[in-house]
Amino acid sequence: MSRPVLFRLALVVAAVAALPIGSFADGQTKNAHEPVYTSDGRIIPPKDYREWVFLSSGLDMSYNKKAIASDKPVFDNVFVNPEAYRVFRQTGTWPDKTQFVLEVRSSSSKGSINQRGHFQSTDVLGFEMHVKDMARFDRGWAFFDVDGNAPAAKIPTTATCYACHGEHAAVDTTFVQFYPTLLPIAQKQATLSASYLKDEAELAKTVH
Ligand code: HEC
Repeated sequence: MSRPVLFRLALVVAAVAALPIGSFADGQTKNAHEPVYTSDGRIIPPKDYREWVFLSSGLDMSYNKKAIASDKPVFDNVFVNPEAYRVFRQTGTWPDKTQFVLEVRSSSSKGSINQRGHFQSTDVLGFEMHVKDMARFDRGWAFFDVDGNAPAAKIPTTATCYACHGEHAAVDTTFVQFYPTLLPIAQKQATLSASYLKDEAELAKTVH
């Protein structure tokens, strides 16, 4: 190879190396965590979701007014893939191929120096996924109930997951009203759903 060619090659290598990790030359963020499916349409559970962006822990949340507090409350930890999080911060909504994991963990109150309150235990009770894939799902999003590492089938759209998320979630069928770093962004970008705004208006009437 002639010297000028080598020199040009070195320039290209240097330019590529200078690109921020995870970016394409056109400024688009590359999604290294796109959903992966088996040939029969089951989702392959992501192994590294604990390295994604942590949005919140719900502690013993219930949708039932009559629910009583449990002495062994359950935590649910919500994670989203980092590429989608970065897009949300800029736009107030989720890009195609967003993946959420909701990890359910049991709790303990007795252990080590703890005298009161609860901490999360090492037992994962299960995890669920909520995935945006516009070309694949009629509604754009689908839910999955994951059991260990096994590929998980899509939960049918007749399940209550779709109804509750569709009717009450603040942004694009996701419960952004419970994700404290994201709600202010959605408010600023005016991406809150009409149904959520209606729920809030109803609530404001009952709280004086
Ligand atoms: C009655 C309402 C309701 C139903 C039914 C429901 N969810 Fe949710 N879901 C919520 C709420 C509230 C949150 C926020 C949890 C938090 O803040 O920790 C949530 C969060 C989630 C998340 C995190 C991502 C997101 O969309 O915000 C996943 C994943 C999820 N639910 C899966 C499911 C699955 C799977 C089903 C059905 C088997 C289901 N949900 C049924 C209310 C519901």
